[in-house]
Amino acid sequence: MAETRVRVCFIGCGHHSTESLQPAVSLIPLFNYTAACDLVGEKAMEATRRFGARKWYTDYVEMVDEESPDAVIIVGPPQLHEEAGVYCLKKGLHVFVEKPPSLTLDGAKRLMEAMKASGRICMVGTHWRHMPVHRALKTLSEKEVFGEVFRLEATYLAPDTRGAWGLSFEWGFMLNQAIHPMDCLQFLGGRVIEAEAWGVAEEGRKLAVSASLRFASGAVGSFTLGGCSPVFYERVGVQGTGGWAEAEQFKRMRYAGKKGWIEPTDPSAVQTLVFEHGSHYRGVSRPGYVEELEVFAQSVASGDHPHADAEDAYYALKTLDAIVESIRKGGRIRID
Ligand SMILES: NC(=O)c1ccc[n+]([C@@H]2O[C@H](COP(=O)([O-])OP(=O)(O)OC[C@H]3O[C@@H](n4cnc5c(N)ncnc54)[C@H](O)[C@@H]3O)[C@@H](O)[C@H]2O)c1
Repeated sequence: MAETRVRVCFIGCGHHSTESLQPAVSLIPLFNYTAACDLVGEKAMEATRRFGARKWYTDYVEMVDEESPDAVIIVGPPQLHEEAGVYCLKKGLHVFVEKPPSLTLDGAKRLMEAMKASGRICMVGTHWRHMPVHRALKTLSEKEVFGEVFRLEATYLAPDTRGAWGLSFEWGFMLNQAIHPMDCLQFLGGRVIEAEAWGVAEEGRKLAVSASLRFASGAVGSFTLGGCSPVFYERVGVQGTGGWAEAEQFKRMRYAGKKGWIEPTDPSAVQTLVFEHGSHYRGVSRPGYVEELEVFAQSVASGDHPHADAEDAYYALKTLDAIVESIRKGGRIRID
């Protein structure tokens, strides 16, 4: 029987790769885990022992030449996402890169252009939009009963105390953390075309960003970030002309519509429905990792282009860049 499974290789076997993504791959039967590569040989070898990769390498160019996989999953420093992503797309492979796609806006654009020129898939690991709770929020907000979406909001707190990858605190936080809620807002509300923001940042002590957004659809949004936080905390909300819904902490959503779902015994009662994960969730660190890689495997196998691609990531970065520019210079920034 011909092989119908997707032959996939990993480039980068560090923390996130082995905590979240390689365990997810072993839960997806459509993948055939062909080989793993890391600059550190022991890490790549460990992938064969723990997650069933057939072979291991320390040089991804050699691995790609020898194995001719259908797809690669790249999980390294952002420079590697851009460099190996462009290389593999040019070789005709389908690519999944972790976030951020690059350290710079120009680099994210380069990856997007390589995706478009290759005709291949290039997904980016903005997994919030693949979380069951955010998928449910999107499905609900598109129902007729929800009406026209006219307001969105996202609040995200994360522990980062300094700029990731040697970048400034603000830009490092944007690339490492804020890309998630921004991509999720784009998923729910479409492209953002204007931003105005205020912020404070002091390494090791505090980071806060408060931004007002205008979407191409005409909706408005608010975007709040906090760094140096003792907890990860998230809230994403959507308001439509017929209802309101809000996801919290990656697993719970509340919905209230203008029409109740039961004959009220107390006419003043707010009738709220709750969506929540069962106690038997699929179990790889956070929700969204298995789901995003399932979308990748299915897209490679079917040839359908997925959302959460290099173009979505480029526009998320463009909006975050506009927010940083607005904080520095003041005033509203247009995002073309
Ligand atoms: N989506 C999420 O929720 C999430 C969570 C954590 C991390 N991440 C992202 O995952 C990425 C990796 O983070 P991490 O914490 O695992 O980092 P890490 O430093 O633990 O792992 C990176 C690995 O890449 C390897 N590497 C570097 N250059 C290489 C090359 N040329 N060829 C092969 N291997 C190479 C390193 O040896 C290292 O093992 C980051 O971009 C981070 O933003 C995403």
